[in-house]
Parts: sequence; C-alpha cells; structure tokens
Amino acid sequence: MIEEKKLFIQTLGCQMNTLDSEHMLSELEKYKNYTQTDKLEDADLILVNTCSVREKPVQKLFSELGQFNAKKKKGAKIGVCGCTASHLGNDIIKRAPYVDFVLGARNISKIKDVVDIKGSVEIDINYNDSTYEFAPNEKSIYKTQANISIGCDKKCSYCIVPSTRGEEISIPQELLISQIRKDVENGAIELMLLGQNVNAYGKRFSDKREKTSFTKLLQEISKIEGLERIRFTSPHPLHMDDEFIEEFAQNPKICKYIHMPLQSGSNEILKAMKRGYTKEWFLSRVEKLKKLVPELRISTDIIVAFPKESEADFLDTLAVVEEVKFDQIFNFIYSPRPNTKALELKEFEIPREIAVARLTRLIELHKLHQSELMQKNIGKEFEVLAENLSKNGEVFGYSDNNLQVFFKASEEALGKIQRVKISGASRTSLQAQKV
Ligand code: 5AD
Ligand code: SF4
Repeated sequence: MIEEKKLFIQTLGCQMNTLDSEHMLSELEKYKNYTQTDKLEDADLILVNTCSVREKPVQKLFSELGQFNAKKKKGAKIGVCGCTASHLGNDIIKRAPYVDFVLGARNISKIKDVVDIKGSVEIDINYNDSTYEFAPNEKSIYKTQANISIGCDKKCSYCIVPSTRGEEISIPQELLISQIRKDVENGAIELMLLGQNVNAYGKRFSDKREKTSFTKLLQEISKIEGLERIRFTSPHPLHMDDEFIEEFAQNPKICKYIHMPLQSGSNEILKAMKRGYTKEWFLSRVEKLKKLVPELRISTDIIVAFPKESEADFLDTLAVVEEVKFDQIFNFIYSPRPNTKALELKEFEIPREIAVARLTRLIELHKLHQSELMQKNIGKEFEVLAENLSKNGEVFGYSDNNLQVFFKASEEALGKIQRVKISGASRTSLQAQKV
C-alpha cells in the first residue's frame, strides 16, 4: 500500500490551464495516490500552474512561491507548471532553489514521472502529447471538458503563447469521441471543447491523416447520444466561415454563446497585431450570427493601448463595441512580452496613464450595455442546467446562452436542465422561478 499524500494546486490563467490542472490531478490520484486539499499547510505537494500572457502575474509568481515555501509543511515539494514554466525553465529553480521541479505547458502528461525527480525541468515545446490518454477525471458529473488541440499556429504579434505552447497539433477525432462517450456514460450532459484556436481544428495531426474541420468535428460530436450541450472556446474570428456559422446556428446541441476575440476595432492596429481580419470582416460575422441566432450572446477580448494606438484607433474600438454590444468583455492593457513581434514597436508604446484612461472608458461603455442587455431578459424563459445548491435553497446554473441564473429548487434539480422564467436582473446575473 502506497502512503496517501495530499496535493494543493493553484491554477492561474485560461481554461486550458484549468483543464491541464485537472489532468495533473487525475494522473497523480491514479498513479501516485494523491488526493486534493485546499489547505496549503497540509499538502505534501504544491503545484502552481502559471500563466505568462501578461507580465504582472509572472512578477507575482516569485513572491508567491516564497510565501508557499514559508508556509509549507516540512518535506513538502513545490512544482511550477504551465506557460511561465515553459518560458522561464531552469531560471525558476535558480531564482527559487526550493522549487523541486518545473513542468512546461506542453509537458504536463509527464507529471507522474517528474514529481519524484528533484531538480527536473521538462519544458520541450515540441513535445507531442496529443494522443496521450489522461487518467479519467472522477469529479465533474454534469459537465466535462476536452482539449481538441495543443499549441497555436497563429503569430499574433503581442502573444507569448506560440512560444510557450508550441505548434498546433489537433487531437484525433476518434480519441475525442471515445473520451466524450465515456464521460457521457458517467453522467455528463454538457461538454466544453478547448483549444487556443478551436476552429482551426483538423489541419495537422501527429500522424498522417486526412485534414478535417472544426465544423465536421462538431457534427460528429453532436451525434453522441445523451450529450445535450456543446460549448467551445476560443474560436478565431478569421476562421468563422459561413459553413461554421450555419452549423452553429442550426445545431440544437451547440450552445448559443460565442467568444469572438476582437482585440481591436481599428484596422491599422489589427494589422499590426497580425490578426488576419479587418473590422468589416468581424462585423460581417457578428451580423450573420445575430441574424441566424436571435438569442445569441457574445463575449470578446480587447487589448487597449497596443503600441501606436492613437485616440482615433481607440475610438474605432469603441465604435465596434457600440455596434455589437458585447455581453461580456475581457479587457486588457497591452503588456510587452518576450519572444513577440510587438517588442519591435517598443518606442511606440503608450504611456500608462493613457492606457488606464482608455481601459476605464471601455469598461464604462460596456457596463451600460451589460445593464441594458440583462434587463431585456426579464419575463423570458430559459433552459438552465442546475449545478449548485446553496444553503439558502437556491440553485445556480447557466442557460444555454451562458446567462448566470439563480432560482429556488431542491437537490433533485441538480444535474438536470430546468425551464425557468426570469424575474429579476443585475448587471451580471439573473433571478428566476421554475416554470
Ligand atoms: N498583452 C495584453 N493582453 C494580452 N492577451 C494576450 N497577450 C496579451 C498581451 N501581451 C490577451 C488577448 C487574448 C487573451 C487571452 O489575453 O486579448 O485574447
Ligand atoms: Fe495564459 Fe495563454 Fe498559457 Fe493560457 S495559454 S495559461 S492564457 S499564457
């Protein structure tokens, strides 16, 4: 009998990282007898799954590692994983010698091997674990997730990800289908497909096989009986062709919520960002989607103060925001990152005060839209997957179009899709009654 050990895991960054953390947890549970704890002081192993998209979290990492080292129980190990691990590699151990191992974003399938090797650094960005079958996740019951690709082939000029997660490789369809089938047999009814750029799926695999497309993958996955909802993130606006939009609109299993990362509404800036589309293309995609899907909700990512962004460029972004009226915006101030093309524009970087002022203007405009859009839901009916029951007898869940909804219900409601009528709205969530 191997001794039972405790694992504390902290996850930063995107949903890819969340899934990577789940994979590491299930591998360690299955092969190394770990169970998860939320108390750092009890842990035998502390994993920090890092993000390197912006500079601030990277700076914070080392002060946090120092705190973890001070609080950890005697003999506990610390591992640094994820994108910053790929990016800084051995330097992490040089700066924080108490770190036991470093495991890069594309290498997490090696967790069960490195965990016992003091000083190991596995950060090969060409490592290919696209066909590795991770130990199944025993935790999520109603919702499951699947990575459909690793890496990213885009060369957006601000983004560090291609240098931390390597080139894009799609995961074979038959592997995905068999994993999803198993999850559905275990009770999952909702699926989240993940990838840095999901709708570029099917261009390159680790073996020689025919190219395919994300649209075809969606068609195949939706044939799985018992699976009721399919979500995905993130798609790239450039690859939102008519075929994809039509499938999105007419396939009843595909949830009517889409993330469309705009980044900027100025054609000049989009060009400098190397996004590959214009604002006109972006708006044509939104128009087609909205026409075919009346209940559609759209979220986006916007970077303000990219080098050379003038007041006129920023006003172009606000104009697109005004026209689309996004339901959710993830806003960022441009952060210069190593190994990116945009570093060549260093002399044109925008002063911090201007960047912050632009960010504030964007947030204020978006808040107006959010309140307006949320109020419009009052009186409407939605199907909500009941996920959580709080002590006050209120259930919480998401509608097909990703609205956060609270309503009174009992435990039997959990894991089921409930029809509710909206009675109240705040800027970010809704109150409802069962119908
Ligand atoms: N600076 C600011 N934001 C960035 N993002 C990616 N790289 C940077 C950067 N260097 C944002 C983009 C992306 C999201 C995940 O993070 O908006 O879509
Ligand atoms: Fe952060 Fe990007 Fe890595 Fe996700 S892929 S953790 S957003 S750097």
